Amino acid sequence: KILILDFGSQVTQLIARRVREAHVYCEIHPNDVSDDFIQSFAPKGIILSGSHASTYEDHQLRAPQAVWDLGVPVLGICYGMQTMAVQLGGEVSWSDHREFGYAEVRAHGHTKLLDGIADFTTPEGHGMLKVWMSHGDKVTKLPEGFKLMASTPSCPIAGMANEEKHYYAVQFHPEVTHTVQGHAMLMRFVRDISGCAGDWIMGDYIAEAVARIREQVGDEEVILGLSGGVDSSVAAALIHRAIGDQLTCVFVDHGLLRLNEGQMVMDMFAGRLHAKVVHVQAQDQFMGHLQGVTDPEQKRKIIGREFVEVFQAEAQKLKGQNTSQGSNKGAKWLAQGTIYPDVVESGGTKGKKATIKSHHNVGGLPETLGLKLLEPLRELFKDEVRELGVALGLPADMVYRHPFPGPGLGVRVLGEVKPEYVSLLQRADAIFIEELRKTIDPATGKSWYDLTSQAFTVFLPVKSVGVMGDGRTYEYVVSLRAVETSDFMTADSAELPYSLLKKVSSRIINEVRGINRVAYDVSSKPPATIEWE
Ligand code: XMP
Repeated sequence: KILILDFGSQVTQLIARRVREAHVYCEIHPNDVSDDFIQSFAPKGIILSGSHASTYEDHQLRAPQAVWDLGVPVLGICYGMQTMAVQLGGEVSWSDHREFGYAEVRAHGHTKLLDGIADFTTPEGHGMLKVWMSHGDKVTKLPEGFKLMASTPSCPIAGMANEEKHYYAVQFHPEVTHTVQGHAMLMRFVRDISGCAGDWIMGDYIAEAVARIREQVGDEEVILGLSGGVDSSVAAALIHRAIGDQLTCVFVDHGLLRLNEGQMVMDMFAGRLHAKVVHVQAQDQFMGHLQGVTDPEQKRKIIGREFVEVFQAEAQKLKGQNTSQGSNKGAKWLAQGTIYPDVVESGGTKGKKATIKSHHNVGGLPETLGLKLLEPLRELFKDEVRELGVALGLPADMVYRHPFPGPGLGVRVLGEVKPEYVSLLQRADAIFIEELRKTIDPATGKSWYDLTSQAFTVFLPVKSVGVMGDGRTYEYVVSLRAVETSDFMTADSAELPYSLLKKVSSRIINEVRGINRVAYDVSSKPPATIEWE
């Protein structure tokens, strides 16, 4: 296994992710763990991460002495390279500003880390690497026993190696995808240089995570808010695997879910997994509060507030409950499907990263409920969470579903939300999604559902005139929306085949009485947003 010491970089988790991709087990720990900890962890190799991209004072941070005493390979990345240089007798010139950027790095000599790895070769025969480099601080003098491994015109020592000791360091970031050969370099370090076998799989992650959850929770009870989304579903399945009936899921059905979704969630968790699920039927409560409300922000606030209220009331019941064990007085833990990107956005990893935005799953609940927080997916990226879900036996079509907003269909019925509108929308949307899943693009062999990042139907509470059979109709309009995006910050409308759009339109108008017109939204984000409200 590999030990990653975190000096506070935004991208430390990416190192872990690349190591996992090389099928090697790794753990991230703070840079100031004790020497004893490192010795008992007994890593086959150690990676020193970068540091926060703009914190000048970070250059006081050092790796524990045990890193150098253990006799195992060490890879320093960015700040990790600088601290390696300083601790082993080299010199670094610190600068008070740093920035990331594209660079072309020349490889020197034949080091085990870079040998045979290059993006292109210069006419003079130098191997060149396209990398993402952190500019600013740099090593200015090699420590004793080290040789030059890489350079750029502005950073003459962009990589260094002590091959006798198996110490390697790079000023650039092999963990980010912009560094084209980064994956190959990290693979080389963990497999060939550190000698890790590369036989670790997601199934092993389950075993380790299960053991960790059991140790954390002991015989105490846990509650989890199930939304039917990927993250909370995978968290529920994982925690259920670990502690069985000590877990109670609370599924708040606000009546703004997709067609049959409530039933699907119950079938999956209560039926197939035999988990304890409290199905709270709160449709009337939500609809009651939404009556007469047309403003999108107010609708969101009401849905959010009611959700917290209902969940909290259920959690209070479970918290105060006497359990079968007798001595245990109800739930002590609140589990959440927080994943790594949520942690970064909330600035929550080492307490010294910039807070980009406050993210809340079930915001503020742990404090008001006085519960401890259990977040077993905190280290994983979305695609890893999906892989884990499949390994846990969740159906692939559930795990690979498009994202669905917390306020649900509440923001897809424009204006006032009425039960009648929700029902029309649910049925129209189910047809659209079914056709997207069924229609295969011959060029890629994939379904249009898989080719789009998010697709859904929006209900417009206006009527238009149509003709059906011999009669005039005067009914509602829906718009289809399908987008392609990598980050949901910007998005393009998907170029769905006309034949698909026409089929969906015809099916909706024929099968959903009350809708006589279907439009397709071709706007991009920006200036539009993905959702209509
Ligand atoms: P917009 O409409 O802002 O949406 O372009 C970007 C992405 O965010 C989702 N979204 C939400 N997700 N709670 C959520 O959990 C919300 O209140 C919410 N609002 C929008 C939206 O579905 C899209 O994927």
